[in-house]
Amino acid sequence: FAQADTGKLDATTPGAVIRKEVYGQFVEHLGRGVYEGIWVGADSPIPNTRGIRNDVVAALRKIKVPVVRWPGGCFADDYHWRHGVGPQRQPSINSSWSNAIEPNTFGTHEFMDFVEQIGAAPYVGVNMGSGSVEEGQAWMQYMTAPANTAQGAERARNGRTEPWALPYVGVGNESWGCGGHMYPEEYANRYRQFQGYLKTYSGPKALKIATGPDTDDYAWTDTVMKLATRFRPNATSPILYAPTKPLMDGLSLHFYTLPSNRWGGVHPARGFGEAAWISTMKRALMMDELVTKHSAIMDTYDPKKEVALVVDEWGTWYDKEPDGPGGLWQQNTLRDALVAAVTLNIFHDHAERVRMANIAQMVNVLQAMILTDGPRMLVTPTYHVFDLYQVHQGARRLPLKLYAAPYRFGDIEVPGLSGTASVDAAGRVHVSLANVDANQPRRLTLAVQGVKPGAVRGQVITAPAMDSHNSFDAPATVAPREFSGARWTGSTLTVALPAKSVVTLELR
Ligand code: AHR
Repeated sequence: FAQADTGKLDATTPGAVIRKEVYGQFVEHLGRGVYEGIWVGADSPIPNTRGIRNDVVAALRKIKVPVVRWPGGCFADDYHWRHGVGPQRQPSINSSWSNAIEPNTFGTHEFMDFVEQIGAAPYVGVNMGSGSVEEGQAWMQYMTAPANTAQGAERARNGRTEPWALPYVGVGNESWGCGGHMYPEEYANRYRQFQGYLKTYSGPKALKIATGPDTDDYAWTDTVMKLATRFRPNATSPILYAPTKPLMDGLSLHFYTLPSNRWGGVHPARGFGEAAWISTMKRALMMDELVTKHSAIMDTYDPKKEVALVVDEWGTWYDKEPDGPGGLWQQNTLRDALVAAVTLNIFHDHAERVRMANIAQMVNVLQAMILTDGPRMLVTPTYHVFDLYQVHQGARRLPLKLYAAPYRFGDIEVPGLSGTASVDAAGRVHVSLANVDANQPRRLTLAVQGVKPGAVRGQVITAPAMDSHNSFDAPATVAPREFSGARWTGSTLTVALPAKSVVTLELR
């Protein structure tokens, strides 16, 4: 039995561009995210280029990662960049993550080399929590000033004459929590001061991203938008100069998918039941409510949408794996693939405001793309969703309406299907669909306008169990396969979606 669902796709009215930066990623000095996951050192027997592992670079190049956020996370407000440049690197303490010894062998030069190798743009988070304006300003100059300045000359002495392009800078991280436990008023004032000095001195002007809310902290969004978006107005003097350009280009949002919708409790990454599956889906779908409500507040202060909502930490967060290496390492299963698809679909729906997002995190930490074990590497179900969804990067969103019967388990109910559609620069239409129903296949009948029925081809990600995953011994258990379940009948497209699956179709 396949549940019969219907929908409408209108390819005649393309909407906003889905920014490729929505497919950004996040790397933090945490667990094995950087050391082993990316950096093995030039002397390692693991094949590498200037210390950066070749297998990881090749896998990331394949999915066209547009932007990487670094060095944290909480670690960003703990990081003093001078420890990580020059020939004499002294270890320091990573007080954000178990007081681990930070060797500082992966610093600014190595990060910039890494993003260049994978073809991504850097998004660097400046330390506001334990750093100073002076330290942040000096780092910006070190990265972007010409070599005939003090900081630029220091960079050149350390091996890099040309400045780097730095298109994005973050100002603090979770300043309401690990980044300083500030009230929003305090953060807004500090932001105003910091942002004035965090300039680039060559290349593109860095877009400045302020610390935004945690989950549904709407008061944070309201206060920071109210106090930090604009030049301070002077109502009594109409002749004083007051630029109209916003003081920020982006406001971040952090939201993690916790299976029970709260911190604490028991959330294994594997070996869970259907109750955990559906509550994870429900929590992932909450992204839509959060983005909608934060965007509405932003609209009040920024009706022209000059400030992007940058979801620079999102993804699943499960329990420490009993037999895992720690450091927020978790296995990545078919459930994570569905969370990724549902979340990306929501970002597409809000393409006008959500112009960057960074999944947490890239390698070996939380909802990772890649897991490594010494010299071995595998790509996860989440990676495969990013691979299938590449076709939407930079494409224009198309209106897609789905009328899907709910999927229920216990006292939870969620829409059975989630989807998105776009048209790329070459006129190709792509439709991605996620059947979140753990048991029932779905038969979707889609009335399509504006596409001449022709060939339809696609790929599907599914697997026998909710927690099917890839292991180093069986790395292709969850992988995309050819999909032949779509048929045209006149201008109607019928798609037979397996239970718990993600499908991307190309309509030609
Ligand atoms: O991604 C792990 C941590 O989660 C980050 O360091 C922090 O910003 C968030 O709380």
